[in-house]
Formats: sequence, C-alpha cells, structure tokens
Amino acid sequence: MNSRYLSLVIFLITSSLSAQTIGTMQDLSAQQKATATSITLQGQQLPTGWNSDFRQLRDCCPKLAELNLSGCRNRELPANALFAAHQLRRLVLPDSLERIGKAALYACDGIEELVIPASVVHIDEGALAGMRGLRRLTILGCPELGEMALAGLTNLREIEVQSPIPPRCAANTFAGLQGKNVQLLVPRSARRAYRQAAGWRTLSLRASEQQTVNVDSVQILPIPQALVEEGGRLAMAQIGSVVACDALSNEREHAQSILNRLTTWRPRKGKGTLQLELDTTISTNPEAYQLHVKPGAIVIRGVTPTAVFWGLMTLEQMLTPSSPNVLVASLPTLHIEDAPRTQLRELMIDPARIFIPLSELRPFVVEMARYKLNALHLHLVDDQAWRMEIKSYPRLTDVGSKRTGMDDMPLEISGYYTQEEMREFVQFAARYHVEVIPEIEMPGHEVAAIHCYPQLTCGGREVPIRTTCGVSNELLCPGEEFVYEFLGNVFRELSEVFPSRYIHLGGDEAGNPALDCWTHCEKCEALKAKLGIPLSDRSENWRLQEYLFNRVIDTLRACYGKTPMFWYETDFKRIPEGCITFAWRHGLTAAAIRAAQENGAHIMLCPGEHCYLDYPAAPGDMPEVNWGMPVTSLEQTYRLDPSWGFDESFERNHLYGVAGTLWSECIPTPERLFYMAYPRAMALAEAGWSLQSRRQWPDFQQRSAFHLRALFTRRLLRP
Ligand code: ACM
Ligand code: ZN
Repeated sequence: MNSRYLSLVIFLITSSLSAQTIGTMQDLSAQQKATATSITLQGQQLPTGWNSDFRQLRDCCPKLAELNLSGCRNRELPANALFAAHQLRRLVLPDSLERIGKAALYACDGIEELVIPASVVHIDEGALAGMRGLRRLTILGCPELGEMALAGLTNLREIEVQSPIPPRCAANTFAGLQGKNVQLLVPRSARRAYRQAAGWRTLSLRASEQQTVNVDSVQILPIPQALVEEGGRLAMAQIGSVVACDALSNEREHAQSILNRLTTWRPRKGKGTLQLELDTTISTNPEAYQLHVKPGAIVIRGVTPTAVFWGLMTLEQMLTPSSPNVLVASLPTLHIEDAPRTQLRELMIDPARIFIPLSELRPFVVEMARYKLNALHLHLVDDQAWRMEIKSYPRLTDVGSKRTGMDDMPLEISGYYTQEEMREFVQFAARYHVEVIPEIEMPGHEVAAIHCYPQLTCGGREVPIRTTCGVSNELLCPGEEFVYEFLGNVFRELSEVFPSRYIHLGGDEAGNPALDCWTHCEKCEALKAKLGIPLSDRSENWRLQEYLFNRVIDTLRACYGKTPMFWYETDFKRIPEGCITFAWRHGLTAAAIRAAQENGAHIMLCPGEHCYLDYPAAPGDMPEVNWGMPVTSLEQTYRLDPSWGFDESFERNHLYGVAGTLWSECIPTPERLFYMAYPRAMALAEAGWSLQSRRQWPDFQQRSAFHLRALFTRRLLRP
C-alpha cells in the first residue's frame, strides 16, 4: 500500500468516526465540535445571530475538514461566516443561497474546488478572497461579484461560468489572478462578451500589459503637519538613482525597493535623483522630516535615519495606486513638513493567549511602519502561556508554552520564541524603525510560570495552566526570595535579546481589587511585618506590589539602563519617577493622568474606550462571542485626543504616546489579527502622530478606506 493510499484510508476511517449529520450546531457537545472532521447540517434555517452556527464552525471546530450545507435552506452565508477557516478542505453550499457575504470565505485556503449554486445573486466584497488553495471554481448562475471578491486566488487554474452574460464585477474583483494561469470556461457563444466585459477583461490581459497611472491627489495617513502643492508634476521615469550617505544605507535600500515596486522610474537611465539627507537643523524633534517632490527630483531630509525613513513611508503612500498591478508614472510636485505629536505610537500584541509565529509578525511590523507606528509591544507571558525562551528556566517553554484550547475554542496552542529567532526579529523590525518592547507580567497574570515553578507563588501551590480568560487569584509571592532570583535571571536574559530602551512589567489586575493570594501566606505576613504594612485595610496588596516593583525597577535601571513601564492601577499610587504608566481602564484616564502629573511620570494613553482593538468594531462583528467586550468603532478610536482635554503642560511634560491593544483571547488566526487591528490602528496612528488641528473625521474616513483597501490587497497578493 503506498503512503498516499494509506493516508487516504486513515483519513476516511477517522473522518467517519467523527462525521456528524445534525440539524444545527446546538446538537453537538463541545467535545464533539472539538473532534468533528465532517459535519452535514440539515437545519432549515441555521441560526446566524450571536454564537451562530457559522461562528461555531469557524472557531470551535479546529479539525473540521468537510462541511456539507446542502440540506439547509439559508439564503445568506453571513459576512465573515468562515473567515480564515484554514481547517476546511471541502464545502458544499446550499442551493437556496442568494448571497455570500463580505469576507465569508476569506482565506479558506484549504478548499481546492468550490461550486457556487445557481441561486446565488450576490458575492460580496472579498467573499472568496485569499482562497489560495482553490484550483477550480464553478459559478452556476450569474451573481454580481463585489470588489476583490475573487482576489488573491493564486492557485486558481479553472473558472467555469455557466452564464451566457458575464456576471457584473468590479475592476479589482480578480486582483492577483494571472490570465495566463487561469482557464476561463464560458458558454461558447459568450466568449467574446467575457473578453470585453469590465473586470473579466483582466483575465485575458497578458502580464506584459502593465498599466500606469498619474497620481492627482495624494492620500497620506497620518496626516502631515503641513503640505503645500506646488502646481507642477514629476515624471517618475526622470528618476534614475537614489543618493544617500552611508549612515542611510538601510533607507537607501528601502527607497530602491519602493521605486521598483510602485513606479516607472528608470534606474541608471533617468537623470533625476531621489535624495536622502540627514539634517539636524530642521527641528529638535528627532522624527521630523521634510519631503520635497520637485520637477526632476525628490528630496527627503530628516533629523535622524528614523525621520528620513518616515519621509520614505510618506512617499510610499503617495505612490500607492488605487488598484493593484498598476505603476505610478507621475506625481504632483509638493512640499511636506512633518513631525509627530507624541514620541511612542505602539501596538500591543498578545502571543501568550494564542501564539503568533514571527513569520506572521514580520508583515505586521511592515504594515505598522507604513503609518509611522514605531513600537511593537509583545505581551510575552500570561496565565495561559509563557512564550519566550529563558535558558535559565527551560520548563517555562518546555511545559508552559503548550495548552489545549481556551474557553470554547479548542485550538491546540503551542509555540514559543527562541532567543536567537527573536534577536533576528528585533533586527528586522529595527530596519523598519519599529522598536520591540518585551513585557513580562508581575505579580499577576503569571499562572503559566507558576505552573512550571510552583515555588513562585504563595505556599508553593501547584496550579494548572489556565484555559479560560479572566483574572486568576494566583500571584507571585513577594515574600519569597526565589521570585527575585527568578525575575533577575529572566530580565538579564531578556536584556540580552531586546535592545529596547523600555521593558514592560505588567502590574495590572493583581491588587485591584485586592486578591486573597497574599492574605494567608506566612512569607507575605513576615514581609508585611518587616515593612510595617498594616494588615487590616486591604491596602496591603498594592504596598506589597510596590515593594516587589521597586526591587525589580532598581535592578532594571542599575544593571540594564531600562525605562520600566506598567499598566496603571488606581491603588498603585506611587509611580516611580521616570517610569511610564499606561492608562488603560475605562473611565480612569483622568485619574491616571493626575497620578502621572503628581509623580512626575510619563503616561501612555490606551484607554479601553478608544484603544482596545481586540474589541468588536461594530455590533455583531468578530469576535461575536467574547467576555462582554464593548464595541469600539473606528470613529471612537479616531476620536482619541491624546491630551484628554488636559493643558499644554501635560502634553509637554507627561504625555509619552498612544497604544492600541490586541489581546488575543478571541484572535485565533493571523488573518483575524490584521482584521481586528485595521483600520483602527490607522486611526490610532493619526491620533498619536498628527496635530489635533489637522485631524478631521470625514477626511480620515476617506483616506483610511483607501489605505485599508491597499493593505488588504497587499495581504492577498503577497507571494
Ligand atoms: C489589561 O487590559 N489587563 C491591561
Ligand atoms: Zn506569599
């Protein structure tokens, strides 16, 4: 028996064991969903509301290879129904279906063949986009095809359309499809009509027929401080070289790559230059730059290489075409002067709850840099896992990085970053001027470490790795010397991997509200007595936390020159001078700002009302099932004023930057990470970079729609 045949037999046996024919998903237990490989649903109307059948098929059935909906009578496959359901291999759609919603099958990249029933009249925007495994698509009817509906189908070899009239589609419906690779099978009498029809025409274009555009109006996000159009034009073919000093060799490489990818420049032939210069006289702001597009040349001047790089990112945005596979032939001449409002504009990623490989974080960093977001904060540990190799404590990753599922999502989750690959990643991000900031939580959110080394917690209790979200009562024991030895070794090793100026110490949800972990511990009692901490007023928790933090902060400063950061909690009253606190809790931003002012500290703004990008962006949007997250709309994120109505002296002396969080309890795939982050991360980037007086919601809406489309096109068309 050859191995292919053997694996087919094994597949058939296992799938028949876990094949289910049911009415709706309610008929299956959590365990049955976790193991199901084949489901046939026969309910007349599958529920589509909160925790719909589709959400369960997508998020709760990680082994589901076959889904047969032919027995259902649903008229719509809702938006995001099976978004990035990588596990699916075969899908049969109901022949009652009229609409395939937006992104309904986005990145279902395991499906090789798909038949769209004759009943379907609408295939919405991005509905089948990114089905990279799809080889054969049959469209039985004549559905209208939305923007990017079939974009990024890089392995498609055959499309059969039975309609004699070409279905209506957008110019970018088939973005990324190469006519030479795809056979279009249509009724004989209709071949000519398809060759001439808008959209379908692109399938008969040859690769050599590259189109060019002249850019009339530029779309820059975040909006720069000042932009003056000068009335002329620059033909990109006039540019022949990039000129830069050795200190800007990285930026020169980026510049060449931008010109190659996006323009009709003529290397070594054009007489003009794209000139990159360092100029410290422009501004005292190290990120300030000027960009001048002139007849015959482009000049970018920046105070530092970072500033020059931001100038390049602005240029790249000007060269971003409105449709894929188009090169820019000319730009309007203009002059830009620009600098950021705040120093640190970060996104926080949580690979602890659901692991995200570095191969997926690289493109994430590249996208951040386009909007001048300059820090990626990695939440490396939590109750549910420890994700960073620490050579002194191998159990942290050998044992603490593996878990089966969380809440109702039975994904097997494992993975960690080795020091070597993280070093490489940090260097990669630095080439995009994105600083990688590590976070190690203390004293709470440490159950994974405690599971591996029980002496870290009070009484050496043995606790399992957590498989639900929420807050654990298990804390590091501040009365136990091993805790300080452990943290000392962890931070020493981290400092050798992360050159960042900052280190984040967590500090949230441990003493506020006061938890009981420390209340009956002999070692904690002894420490309280030694420090003269009263035992009766429930304030002992934050005082113990303060003691623990101060010891760690002293080490981080003295040994590694790091600036500590932490999540602000109201009871944690004293912010050690020079530290950076994060205002995150709903409704407590003003209190956090006052605390920063009183303590002479810096503050990052990431109030939940605006900056928690893991929350759904609209009612019913992903994640439909969550722990009660409020909706945070794009507009709500955009409305963040980093000075929060405080005066100019707050902004000058205390405001450090803005942060957006992407806690990953409900972000099970990299595609979902991008979906949650964008376009809200663009709004955050503009809040952190641009002057309040330059920001207008309607104008931002239009620019962000343009850039969102460009982003998803890049994602879909990546090699
Ligand atoms: C947090 O969201 N627990 C900082
Ligand atoms: Zn204790």
